[in-house]
Amino acid sequence: MLTENQGTSIGQDVRRDTLTTRQGHPVMDNQNLKTVGNRGPATLENYHFIEKISHFDREEVPERVVHARGSGAFGYFETYGKVGNEPVEKYTRAKVFSGAGKRTPLMVRFSTVAGAKDSPETARDPRGFAVKMYTEEGNWDLVGNNLKIFFIRDAMKFPDMIHAFKADPASNTPNPQRMFDFVSRTPEATHMITFLFSPWGIPATYRHMQGSGVNTYKWVNDKGDAVLVKYHWEPKQGIRNLTQEEAASIQAKNVGHATQDLYEAIERGDYPEWELYVQIMEDGYHPELDFDPLDDTKLWPEDRFPWLPAGRMVLDRNPVDFHAEIEQAAFGTGVLVDGMDFSDDKMLQGRTFSYSDTQRYRVGANYLKLPVNAPKAPVHTNQHRGQMDIREPKESGENPHINYEPSLIGGYQEASREHRPPHQPAYQATVMSAPIDRPNPYGQAGVTYRKFEDWEREELIINLSEALAVCDSRIQDAMIGHFTQADEEYGRRVKEGIEKKKKEIEQAKTEAKVPGREAGISKYGEGS
Ligand code: HEM
Repeated sequence: MLTENQGTSIGQDVRRDTLTTRQGHPVMDNQNLKTVGNRGPATLENYHFIEKISHFDREEVPERVVHARGSGAFGYFETYGKVGNEPVEKYTRAKVFSGAGKRTPLMVRFSTVAGAKDSPETARDPRGFAVKMYTEEGNWDLVGNNLKIFFIRDAMKFPDMIHAFKADPASNTPNPQRMFDFVSRTPEATHMITFLFSPWGIPATYRHMQGSGVNTYKWVNDKGDAVLVKYHWEPKQGIRNLTQEEAASIQAKNVGHATQDLYEAIERGDYPEWELYVQIMEDGYHPELDFDPLDDTKLWPEDRFPWLPAGRMVLDRNPVDFHAEIEQAAFGTGVLVDGMDFSDDKMLQGRTFSYSDTQRYRVGANYLKLPVNAPKAPVHTNQHRGQMDIREPKESGENPHINYEPSLIGGYQEASREHRPPHQPAYQATVMSAPIDRPNPYGQAGVTYRKFEDWEREELIINLSEALAVCDSRIQDAMIGHFTQADEEYGRRVKEGIEKKKKEIEQAKTEAKVPGREAGISKYGEGS
């Protein structure tokens, strides 16, 4: 089993086996094509060569459509058996949380969002924080990010948002104007943009960032009663972010510094650790709040919904094979265990379809058979066949003739519901396409702006001004309008920053026209 292997350092081979083909034949010559004479044409019956090249031609799977750049590691989750001072069973019957001190194996993948597979890890971008726990009741995935909120609150907008954030489809170059064009028509993104353009938008390493489930989930107890829950990971290493200048200087030398940092820390036994906190809210509309609890652009205020410690996570093993264990890892928001449920958060509902859909395309219909994705709990399913069906024949004692359910004569049977009453939300409403009430796109953006330290606000203004200065004036005006509604000072400072930056650009253009000076200015205003 891959996840139980121990890695070795380069140059520390423990054994030297004979090289074979994938058919198990020993390879006598791995250096020379079989040719007619030693400089003649190659032969078609050169089986080893054809197998070697044709397998090489298929070595890569498509990269993730988002979060393509990432790295990961393995470890365990240890439950405290309680949340805050209360037994966890009060809120959830999920066994992963019961029994203080119990450990559940897990894997984590950290990532950036918009860049391609080998893009710089210094990007100003949210960081993905995806955890897969191999619980005794089957897998539980918590697929989140480091910033605790998101740009949009309705899954319908996600493909447009990602198109706008990725490279220009014509020039294939990044262009902030496209991103701000989308964001300027998306007021609910003001809060996330405020985090993203502050130093919080470039975590120093994966070890020094928070994680969060972002979307609202439910916990269900033994009686079938549900509460709303949000999850947060807090790094015991502390939180560290980078200024734009620090990030640029790292990027000049290393585009994979975060992967390297994580790998090397684990190699030297400096195991990173995060504490898991949950926020709990009674399920309902909560008219007393100025936002909807199902709106993922909002934080739940900590003074009203305290962060309650529930367990800790330790990463203590590096992948042995990056492709097998990290690249092919497949997380999804639908992967919940008994005692957990979906809320009606519209992003969560949309995401839940998208992940396994893309994985059937990216990795293949049998992606759940791969060791990194397969649960460690027993799997008894009639969902079979398809390409790469690596199933073992049924064990003796199992009926090999029954691959359907229900059956009176054999095969797998449904689990009993007797001891696990379901959570049964009831609805009476008209079907419609409509935004939620209480959008409140600016309130928390203003609070976050005011909570920042002076240097963080300073960085935020500089970063926004630089990015916006090269945008169309209609986009600039719209963005200044959003920031002003969040906080009057915030809007004013961004406006002044843009004007200052535009003057600098004009000045640079004038200087470039001075005879003898050869600096080029691109149409986006950057020196080339
Ligand atoms: C990856 C869709 C929102 C966090 C992905 C992938 C897709 C996707 C298709 C690639 C998965 C793969 O190839 O295995 C969506 C859709 C969203 C959405 C449709 C909104 C409707 C979010 C949000 C978050 C998030 C709000 C953060 C809370 C992640 C992470 C990954 C990911 C961490 C990388 C998982 C990994 O490491 O393999 N998303 N996403 N996504 N998404 Fe989302």
